[in-house]
Amino acid sequence: MKTFIENLPKAELHLHIEGTFEPELLFEIAKRNNIKLKYDSIEELKKAYSFDCLQDFLNIYYQGAGVLITEQDFYDLTYSYLQKCAEQNVRHTEIMFDPQTHTERGIAFETVINGISKAIEAAKQNLDVSALLIMSYLRHLSEEDAFNTLEQSLPFKDKITAVGLDSSEKGNPPSKFQKVFEASIKEGYIPVAHAGEEGDADYIWEALDLLKIKRIDHGNNCLQDEKLIQEIIKRDLALTVCPLSNTALQVVADLKEHSLKKMMDLGIKTTINSDDPAYFGGQVNQNYIDTQKALNLTKKDLYNLAYNSFQYSFSPENEKANYIKELDEYYSKQ
Ligand code: ADE
Ligand code: ZN
Repeated sequence: MKTFIENLPKAELHLHIEGTFEPELLFEIAKRNNIKLKYDSIEELKKAYSFDCLQDFLNIYYQGAGVLITEQDFYDLTYSYLQKCAEQNVRHTEIMFDPQTHTERGIAFETVINGISKAIEAAKQNLDVSALLIMSYLRHLSEEDAFNTLEQSLPFKDKITAVGLDSSEKGNPPSKFQKVFEASIKEGYIPVAHAGEEGDADYIWEALDLLKIKRIDHGNNCLQDEKLIQEIIKRDLALTVCPLSNTALQVVADLKEHSLKKMMDLGIKTTINSDDPAYFGGQVNQNYIDTQKALNLTKKDLYNLAYNSFQYSFSPENEKANYIKELDEYYSKQ
């Protein structure tokens, strides 16, 4: 099964670039930027990676992202993740980035987007991995702040495919961002949002009805509401599920209790993703491997998950078809 998963062509649809910041690279970049960290060693930093809830994690995640200053920093971070994609047979990835985490600290939007985009172009050439970008608004900040971010993004519209909504979910419902999502859609961005990770099913309803999302990030709590499940199926919306994130943030007590298989059995289109792999103990392949073991997934289940990852990506239809062909060829040889 491990080898089958490692060689399985797949896409990753839920990944925060700031969450790929491995401690080794974090220390290296902090050093070259003359930034003194709160932690004296990589080991000490890693010890801090134990979380009771989403907010607990976000506090450390924003601290880590604070050492990114130059275009080269953003390039190195992104290229390093894309190399891991190539090693794992991740053929396509949809990368979220949080501009406000950086612009709030005085880093120009342009520095962030150029560093990330140049790494994406290099990876397409050198690694044969495709990637697109999802600009995520931070929901703990105001809608006005999100509007400023939308404005700053416009000169770089050709580099951004979608907009997302992340950060502290509870107390920051999707309704808070209805207007900025409307404006983002008018600019041509595809809307997605984190919903139902810690928030209840009503947050998912809001994301569907008010933000008009085309994919649901996490979505675990949709299972609280039978009508919502039927609506998600009817609208053909996929869930980007992140199993190791869910256990690391105590959204799910144990992987054996994860509802991913139940979602699949109900007919919900489901995918497996790593979210913030540097913080949650595993890249995307490890998410597949551990979930397969915990839930006894079959090769057919794994094929379906990989299939959904391409089918529900925002790639052009011809690229999707090519990736699915590659997947089918692989699967037919098993
Ligand atoms: N930002 C990075 N990872 C996140 C997650 N799992 N939920 C909300 N915001 C995030
Ligand atoms: Zn996420």
